[in-house]
Amino acid sequence: MGSKMSLFPSRIFYFLFLLLHSAHGDVSFSFPEEMKRGSVIGNLAKDLGLEASALSGRKARIDADGSGKRYCDLNVRNGELIVADRIDREGLCDDRASCVLKYEVVLENPLELHRINLHIQDVNDNAPLFKDDLIDLEIRESAVKGARFVIEEAHDADVGQNSVQQYLLKKNDNFVLSVSGNTVELVLDNELDREQKQDINLLLTAFDGGSPRRSGTAVIHVTVLDANDNSPVFSQAVYKGSLPENSPPNTIVINVSASDADEGVNGNVTYDFGHVTEHVKKLFSIDRKVGAIAVVGTVDYESSTSYELRVKAKDGLGLSSYAKVIISITDMNDNAPVINLKSLSNSVAENVSPGTEVGIINVQDRDSEKNGKVRCSIEQNVPFKLVPSIKNYYSLVTTGQLDRELVSDYNITISATDEGSPPLSSSKNVHLSVADINDNPPVFEEQSYSTYVSENNKAGSTLCSVSARDPDWRQNGTVIYSLLPSEVNSAPASSYISVNGDTGVIHAVRSFDYEHLRSFQVHVMARDNGSPPLSSNVSISVFILDVNDNSPQILYPAPEGNSFMTELVPKAAHAGSVVSKVIAVDADSGQNAWLSYHIVKSTDPGLFTIGLHSGEIRTQRDILESDSMKQNLIVAVKDNGQPPLSATCSMYLLISDNLAEVPELKDISYDDKNSKLTSYLIIALVSVSTFFLTFIIIVLGVRFCRRRKPRLLFDGAVAIPGAYLPPNYADVDGTGTLRSTYNYDAYLTTGSRTSDFKFVSSYNDNTLPAGQTLRKSPSDFDEMFGDAEGSTEV
Ligand SMILES: *[C@@H]1O[C@H](CO)[C@@H](O)[C@H](O)[C@H]1NC(C)=O
Ligand SMILES: *[C@@H]1O[C@H](CO)[C@@H](O)[C@H](O)[C@H]1NC(C)=O
Ligand SMILES: *[C@@H]1O[C@H](CO)[C@@H](O)[C@H](O)[C@H]1NC(C)=O
Repeated sequence: MGSKMSLFPSRIFYFLFLLLHSAHGDVSFSFPEEMKRGSVIGNLAKDLGLEASALSGRKARIDADGSGKRYCDLNVRNGELIVADRIDREGLCDDRASCVLKYEVVLENPLELHRINLHIQDVNDNAPLFKDDLIDLEIRESAVKGARFVIEEAHDADVGQNSVQQYLLKKNDNFVLSVSGNTVELVLDNELDREQKQDINLLLTAFDGGSPRRSGTAVIHVTVLDANDNSPVFSQAVYKGSLPENSPPNTIVINVSASDADEGVNGNVTYDFGHVTEHVKKLFSIDRKVGAIAVVGTVDYESSTSYELRVKAKDGLGLSSYAKVIISITDMNDNAPVINLKSLSNSVAENVSPGTEVGIINVQDRDSEKNGKVRCSIEQNVPFKLVPSIKNYYSLVTTGQLDRELVSDYNITISATDEGSPPLSSSKNVHLSVADINDNPPVFEEQSYSTYVSENNKAGSTLCSVSARDPDWRQNGTVIYSLLPSEVNSAPASSYISVNGDTGVIHAVRSFDYEHLRSFQVHVMARDNGSPPLSSNVSISVFILDVNDNSPQILYPAPEGNSFMTELVPKAAHAGSVVSKVIAVDADSGQNAWLSYHIVKSTDPGLFTIGLHSGEIRTQRDILESDSMKQNLIVAVKDNGQPPLSATCSMYLLISDNLAEVPELKDISYDDKNSKLTSYLIIALVSVSTFFLTFIIIVLGVRFCRRRKPRLLFDGAVAIPGAYLPPNYADVDGTGTLRSTYNYDAYLTTGSRTSDFKFVSSYNDNTLPAGQTLRKSPSDFDEMFGDAEGSTEV
């Protein structure tokens, strides 16, 4: 028992689920015809167990089967079913006993279908009617008492109690009435006598059973004749025939025939319809002579599946009899399916999951059986399919992921084909647009950008532009550029460049200096305007190009106009000896820093040359006794830029083996006003010479001891001229290296008031210390070197 109990709830759930998804419970309403428009038939919501308030939300509506007219409406506010049009039972159902209108109530979300049957009750709004107001009857006077004469019955469009119920014959001398079922007969009660009364008028009234009851009358005009013994007799009481709908006019449906035993006029049978509706009269005709029933109108199975006709056979003298003809119409596949779009989403978001319902369609085929069985399909290759739902309903659902950026609109052709032979089909186009979702980040056209800009650019100049594409729609695809915060040379990147947010054009914010910053990298972000936005980054490398904006800078000899450096050249120097070197650097790079050296002026033009790129000053020939002791060179240093920049300097050379041999120096440095100096100078000279000699001895001693040691240090270093090295002040140490074969001395003067000489050092194992200069005022040197010029920049 415990197990049974546990099964129970799940079964209920299953049952409820069925009910919810497709409730098939029929709801029936019964009400009289001819109700006023707007009259309430019943409360549909209550009968279906639905909340009236949910009706409009679920798009509840009445759906007529086929193209039938809709006679009622649903008030979605309160769920009442109301009369929408005149309902005439006779017009709708003729004389069928039950008249039912069938509709469907459709609810969406979830799709639900309910059938409703409206039983239209008859109201006695039609009176009985005889086919003719005047019925002619010819009766032989020889007719015996009890003879019966069939009178065509009256007809009432109403049904049931409201149809003809009773006949009444006005009292007369000869006839009484006999009614049994449909047959109305006059029964001769009192024999006729033509000689006495040739014409008799009888009043026949037919009553229906309605309340109040209605009636119709006919006058039976009886002409009393001589003799006609036999009525025509049909070969069958009921004739049955079948006819395919849409048969062409004049197609014979059936032949009826009656025979009359009488001869001559009395046996001459003519045929006619008995009581038939106007509608039938338009569809069929009967050949009066041969009794062939033929089609004259268009027979439509969908309007009526069968017809029942009464046929009358009458002999020449008015005796008649009746028979019934039942014509059943067979269905032909003459109605193509009709596709109705019941509901369709305006647009479908591209991120909906596969299987989402986007629309509901309904297919109708008015034909029956196979001719009305419809198959629905989508033939295109689209990510949608039709899922059969309730009865003739299909849900249009997505089958895959949509992507608006690939396909933004779908034009779906739904086709429906019935199973008739030949089958009929129809199709309908459904247009669906895909709504955008911000699912694509902007993508830069390049993986990274680089740009080259010459230094000294104007602030605000355009460097380059970046561009990113975003295929999304409108603001989801609108790209905005911005510079990502970062640092360049420990300053914010935004102080170097800026990005135009709309165009992606990148501008320099300041002028760049190649000598300070050769390249830098920033990141630019492209962001779309969606919410949330999507973005991507790209790196931009800015390379600054050198411009020849720095003149060569002469480090040695000191270029300042008011200081001099004097090189001592030994008298024994041979041709090709290096006696000095001009050392210059250039802050630019490449060609802009490739320096060349030229002697532009010299005391003795044949004595010294300068290495074009090394700056080494060599003797061109051996020194002669006749050569002037004081030699002055003006050297120009030029870079290789476009246009080139240059600098010049003066170099003073003193041909002497010993400073002591230069008495003129005393004169040069002598200051009349300060006689103390002379004695200082002599002391200094003596001590320097002593120190120098001691130093030479020590050095020679050390060298002698280390004879085997290679002297790579100098040879290797001098092989690289300074101008070929990158313009870096640190390289001065290397370029300043002098050849060891010449241990020459520099006499550096300082421009101090107390003029003195300082012997600095012998450079045989290292560099020229730039700082240890001996300064002397230019005027003193002018005295010494005559027309010597100070260092000048050109
Ligand atoms: C959809 O396709 C049909 C036929 O392929 C065409 O007639 C119709 O114009 C199209 N509709 C749209 C909106 O593209
Ligand atoms: C952009 O995408 C969002 C979702 O990401 C969507 O809601 C919105 O409608 C889209 N905008 C447009 C203009 O399509
Ligand atoms: C862009 O760069 C920022 C900062 O470097 C980083 O946080 C972000 O994740 C990057 N975004 C993308 C899409 O690469």
